Amino acid sequence: MFDIPEKTIFPRMTAEAPGFSVVGEHPAIDAIEVDLPMRDDPAGGLLQATEVDVVRHYTRLSTMNFDVDRGMYPLGSCTMKHNPKVNELVAADPYWADCHPLWPARYLEAHHRIMNELVEDLKELSGFDGVSLLPAAGAHGELTSVFMMKAFHEDHGHDEKQIILIPDTAHGTNPASTAMAGFKAKQIPSGPDGYLRYEDVKPFVDDTVAGIMVTNPNTLGIYEKDFRRIADLMHEHDALVYMDGANFNALMGVFQPAAIGADIMHWNLHKTFTTPHGGGGPGSGPIGFVERLAPYAPDAPDMRSIGPVKAFLGQWGMFLRTWCYIRSLGGKGLSEVSREAVLAANYIRKKLEGKLHLPYATPTLHESVFNDEGLPNEVITKDVAKRLIDFGFHPPTVYFPIMVQGAIMIEPTETEPLEEMDRFVSAVEAILEECRTAPETVKSAPHTTPVRRVDEVKAARELDLVWPGE
Ligand SMILES: Cc1ncc(COP(=O)(O)O)c(C=O)c1O
Repeated sequence: MFDIPEKTIFPRMTAEAPGFSVVGEHPAIDAIEVDLPMRDDPAGGLLQATEVDVVRHYTRLSTMNFDVDRGMYPLGSCTMKHNPKVNELVAADPYWADCHPLWPARYLEAHHRIMNELVEDLKELSGFDGVSLLPAAGAHGELTSVFMMKAFHEDHGHDEKQIILIPDTAHGTNPASTAMAGFKAKQIPSGPDGYLRYEDVKPFVDDTVAGIMVTNPNTLGIYEKDFRRIADLMHEHDALVYMDGANFNALMGVFQPAAIGADIMHWNLHKTFTTPHGGGGPGSGPIGFVERLAPYAPDAPDMRSIGPVKAFLGQWGMFLRTWCYIRSLGGKGLSEVSREAVLAANYIRKKLEGKLHLPYATPTLHESVFNDEGLPNEVITKDVAKRLIDFGFHPPTVYFPIMVQGAIMIEPTETEPLEEMDRFVSAVEAILEECRTAPETVKSAPHTTPVRRVDEVKAARELDLVWPGE
């Protein structure tokens, strides 16, 4: 028998990913020295499990969940689209994946080049003068932006400006960001057609208003057609206009938010630009802004900057994936993405209209919001959503936006094949038929999952992930 060596040299992948040229030296290219993690005595107090047990446990768990690589995930407002594997391939290369922010600057030249190019791409897509990549999620982008709005007003002596207007179609994170930044949120009702009307905003605007936060397209999937007029009104009162750009998947290469009067906005890279969501990877919420807000940006070289909101480079791996996505599609490809996303959502809307109740007849872009009104035998939204799991689909977003009672919000995205969308429509039709003929089947769904219907509050509050062992 041979002895176990104390150190082992493992070969590394080459740093030359396809399409990339390496700038500068790299400290870890050809080989890496690894201390084998061998201990002399058994770890006390820890669960004893073999590698086989552990691998099988996690593999089994992974098959119990649902993911976008398994089927359609029409979670409205979340844009759960396919994450192209080429982006993952590039991002997995050790040259990019193993970089460390404390490496000497010369090793990070290529990383900075990619980030600078991404900044320019986002500027072009939005029309904004500046972009900061630092915020780590959509809500973090909002919070960073509201801090910048506050810094702007403080710098201009606008002490009376304490209120931010937010329509009832906004994402819940908008009022939360507002409150965290020390402003008061005031809700404005949207009109009967589901969009924010100039005349409904006007009575709320006075010199105490610091800004407005408008999700566009809003959480009903409706394009805010009064945005420009509302923005002008706000500017007349020295107030700022925040556009929540989480739904940018409907707009890429089609129009620039800066052109309709937005002063500042966030993107969700993990939605629009196919970087993984949730367990698949960290979020990333870069912001774009007009020139007069630039001094307050978190990475601005200015005394008035709000200061860094994230350490080091930010979510570097997400920037790289986004850069790959933008490079692989180009401007024309990105605008096709948005057009296809809108087409797909409207295809499903048309197919389900007259079957599921549609509370707003207004045309929609990337998603449509139905609800449970008129379902027979007291079947409710939650039952339909759970039953969809049995048909192999992730449920749509439900009970959001809160202004629609029993909302069922469907966003297929551009990456769903036509056949899959047809299968989804057929599943909804079959469930609607069951609501009439076999309502108990719908009300007790799901039937095919490892865990049946759970107490959702208990599941969230008393999450128990401990392996029970033998
Ligand atoms: C309209 C809107 N704004 C903000 C957010 C918050 O983004 P994040 O979940 O990345 O914090 C979301 C998330 O889905 C959203 O849909």
